[in-house]
Amino acid sequence: MLHKLIAAAALLLPATALAVEDVHSFANADEVRVTHVALDLDVKFDQKVLEGSATLDLKRIDANADVVVLDSRDLDIRKAEAFVDGKWQPTEFTLGEEVEALGQLVRVSLPAKANKVRLHYRTSPEASGLQWLTPEQTAGKKHPFLFSQAQAIHARSFIPLQDSPGVRVTYEAVIRTPKDLLAVMSANMEQDPVRDGEYRFEMPQAIPPYLIAIGVGDLRFKAMSDRTGVYAEPYILEASAKEFEDTEKMIQVTEKLYGPYRWGRYDILMLPPSFPFGGMENPRLSFITPTVVAGDKSLVALIAHELAHSWSGNLVTNATWRDLWLNEGFTTYLTYRIMEEVFGKPREQQEAVLGYQDIHNAIASLEEFATVLNVELGERDPDSVFSDIPYEKGALFLRELEYKVGRDNFDAFLRSYFDHFAFQSITTADFKAYLKKHLVDRHPGKLDWARIEAWIHQPGLPEGHPVPKSDAFEQVAEIRGHWLAGHMSAENIDASEWTVHQWLYFLNNLPEKLTPAQMKELDEAFGLTASKNNEIAHSWLRVAIRNDYQPAFERLEDYLIGIGRRKLIVPLYSDLMKTPKHAEFAKRVYEKARPGYHPLAQGTLDAMVLAK
Ligand code: BES
Ligand code: ZN
Repeated sequence: MLHKLIAAAALLLPATALAVEDVHSFANADEVRVTHVALDLDVKFDQKVLEGSATLDLKRIDANADVVVLDSRDLDIRKAEAFVDGKWQPTEFTLGEEVEALGQLVRVSLPAKANKVRLHYRTSPEASGLQWLTPEQTAGKKHPFLFSQAQAIHARSFIPLQDSPGVRVTYEAVIRTPKDLLAVMSANMEQDPVRDGEYRFEMPQAIPPYLIAIGVGDLRFKAMSDRTGVYAEPYILEASAKEFEDTEKMIQVTEKLYGPYRWGRYDILMLPPSFPFGGMENPRLSFITPTVVAGDKSLVALIAHELAHSWSGNLVTNATWRDLWLNEGFTTYLTYRIMEEVFGKPREQQEAVLGYQDIHNAIASLEEFATVLNVELGERDPDSVFSDIPYEKGALFLRELEYKVGRDNFDAFLRSYFDHFAFQSITTADFKAYLKKHLVDRHPGKLDWARIEAWIHQPGLPEGHPVPKSDAFEQVAEIRGHWLAGHMSAENIDASEWTVHQWLYFLNNLPEKLTPAQMKELDEAFGLTASKNNEIAHSWLRVAIRNDYQPAFERLEDYLIGIGRRKLIVPLYSDLMKTPKHAEFAKRVYEKARPGYHPLAQGTLDAMVLAK
């Protein structure tokens, strides 16, 4: 170990990056590191494959290393070459055994002095990090669509590389597509190029591999400000640009709080509704679900969230998937701050209460180990431990730190944290050391170290944690109480001024069971089954399933077929699986919906719906 640390110092690599072991990567990054990836790929919609080559620049940390070990999953690697003395020459490679969730290692022989390797390969049509949509599965029905989703460990299913967030790379790419289609990536690119089927990209900042991303489709571009814009299929281009018109303002308030936006442009790519996440913070180009285009900006906290990752996540990155809370907890905290600045305190308070309720729901449903911020993942698939804990518990912890040292002090601390660790991948221990020195020790008597340890390493929530409150929600709770007690009819509830969040609070906190008359009364008064807001519809459909409210089941079927975002559909399937009658409905609908879902959603739901 010692000689490795010395070698690291000599190369001016952050020592932490080498001391960290990432159990979710096979890479021998402590011996040889990939520093740059050059892709040359054809996008073949007819076969649903990417085909071409990846050239990897290497930095030797151990001068005697004679092999570079990479990650892969379901890749068909045809040939490997090494670059020695200015020439490419064939080199040997071997694949390891397939390991559940991790894929296969690729061991590429390195002749002495080789400083690059190139792998010629094609992806599998089932690549876990790609979704290929037929024209019929898109809104326009004329052109196919492809998108990637690499976080956490799916980059290896479309690029052979060292797929660990501790191994940062710059990248460039040449992508060939059918003519008429546009390819976009998380990199520098021309905004609105001629559609000639060949596109070039360059990402000059070193990023973790899970941020390499591509989208290909019938995409148009619309600018929102000098440095922000939207790429989307024509059907949703204008509506998205309108919905997200405050993006520039969001960047400005975040810069004011936490320092400059360091990535040049910030654009948004609108994905098909089967995108399995709400959003993904691919640098310079957030990937966004169309399910948040509500027409009233009610769900734009998602944009604040993905944007905030430009500081927490993309600039300062979790070194392993155990440290995910450093990405998501900080980002969730920043999101609240951005929402407060742009949309005012009442809205922030409402969103914070909903987030706080998510923590309690998560604690009630998760195994105890999964309620720890610095979670003991072991070799578990990081996807299988995904929950609201790193997000909302992480944010609540930072909120407590803010309250204890005061907002100005905490803002200054965070800003210096982002500067200090910019473009590095860090562990929870690195954060703790920095926190101790730059916050705890500087504000004697304000913060208690044992309590900080409990926040980070103990399950659940420590006693005396901050509890977000919202006046607007108190009113809703009062009215809900009157209605439930039979003191007022739904018709007489004046909800005309209610925000979407007030509706969510109302619906999420209804009792387990309502009477058929109450269900009908609510639906007739407020048209909930017909709600066009996907979050409201989600909350209402959960109530409907619990109460076997049949008039909503047709809408439920359409919803499950039309949307592939896991956070919106998985709870619905899970609720349905609780009774035999509903399970039968779930299976029937799933059979229809499954071909349109992303491989990740299929994985989650196969286990939940088909296995039973
Ligand atoms: N980076 C995440 C998505 C992610 C996390 C993918 C872990 C794979 C593994 C993204 O920023 C995110 O958090 N999306 C949320 C947004 C929400 C909390 C506003 C989502 O998709 O729901
Ligand atoms: Zn996030």
